[in-house]
Amino acid sequence: MLQDRFHRRHNYLRLSLTNNCNLRCAYCMPEEDYVHTPSAALMQAPEILSLASTFVNLGVDKIRLTGGEPLVRRDAADIILQLSRLPVSLTMTTNGTRVHQFLPVLKAAGIRSINVSLDTLQRDKYQLLTRRDALPLVTGNLQRLLDAGIQVKVNVVVMKGFNDQEVFDFVEWAGRMQVQLRFIEFMPFAGNQWQSKKVFTQAQLLERLGQRYNLHPVAGAPHDTARHYCIPGHAASLALISSMSAPFCSTCNRLRLTADGKLKSCLFAAEETDLLTALRNGEEVEALIHHNLQRKFETRGGQFQQGFEAVQHLVNRSMINIGG
Ligand code: GTP
Ligand code: 5AD
Ligand code: SF4
Repeated sequence: MLQDRFHRRHNYLRLSLTNNCNLRCAYCMPEEDYVHTPSAALMQAPEILSLASTFVNLGVDKIRLTGGEPLVRRDAADIILQLSRLPVSLTMTTNGTRVHQFLPVLKAAGIRSINVSLDTLQRDKYQLLTRRDALPLVTGNLQRLLDAGIQVKVNVVVMKGFNDQEVFDFVEWAGRMQVQLRFIEFMPFAGNQWQSKKVFTQAQLLERLGQRYNLHPVAGAPHDTARHYCIPGHAASLALISSMSAPFCSTCNRLRLTADGKLKSCLFAAEETDLLTALRNGEEVEALIHHNLQRKFETRGGQFQQGFEAVQHLVNRSMINIGG
């Protein structure tokens, strides 16, 4: 069992398949990180399988594939199908641009729910943010997922002055589309030009939404990152992921494995353990996992100060290199 010093059981592995992406969102992929990582430094498919199996033996029963964009990896289909044979709930966070090429694989792998990142419903703004004109493709793919019986949660990173004016549009759209909408507070990572004034906090969001809707809190799952709300008489289901102003670390059950095979026990942990090299050297991986987890901090990489500004000073990678 993967238990840390604070009695938190870790059964959820976020596994990054690649630190490459076909979009270019500045908040995730800073320009200096465009450098291509040589594939020899990344986990190969059998290594992913081997490490994932080790985590499963230690009690992991949920694996979320992340990236970069997981579906840009050439052998993504094989990896998904192989991982689906493990006794885990397998899922994925994707930008949605490649989903149409993977629908049969997603169905064959028994994937029931997928999280799609979509930060604006305006085509020109989408292009400005991602540097690709892919909004119609993404919304089309979202519909394809729903038609295939796969539930969709839509992740919207809210950045003040960029898309905070769109929250009502998103709520109306989510109601029509029958997707769960999740508004996420903008977090600082290496090179992503985070500023505290760009964070649209949970309180600000609730105040804004309250101008038009009567929000009712809804109970969520025990380890949920999101706080859920419904609007009586409205079809939208929405949630807030408030990592900055209202962190949810006390119920954290998540571990991260980066595309280059490093274990990060927290999104904000500076310390990483190189499981890939250990595996390649035939070393004991399980002991390394336990050792890393025993050093996990109580909250946000050990940042205990009041206010969330201090998070920006933590040593960390960019989001694309962590896996989200
Ligand atoms: P569910 O399985 O649907 O609960 O997904 P999730 O919220 O764990 O994953 P997703 O990849 O959709 O991430 C949504 C947002 O939550 C992103 O901004 C993530 O960076 C953030 N997030 C996910 N897990 C954690 C976590 O352990 N800590 C913090 N601070 N943020 C997290
Ligand atoms: N702050 C908050 N969420 C982020 N994501 C990427 N970068 C950030 C950030 N700086 C989100 C993506 C994706 C999820 C894995 O993390 O939009 O949905
Ligand atoms: Fe867990 Fe770290 Fe996220 Fe807190 S910030 S919920 S400890 S991963």
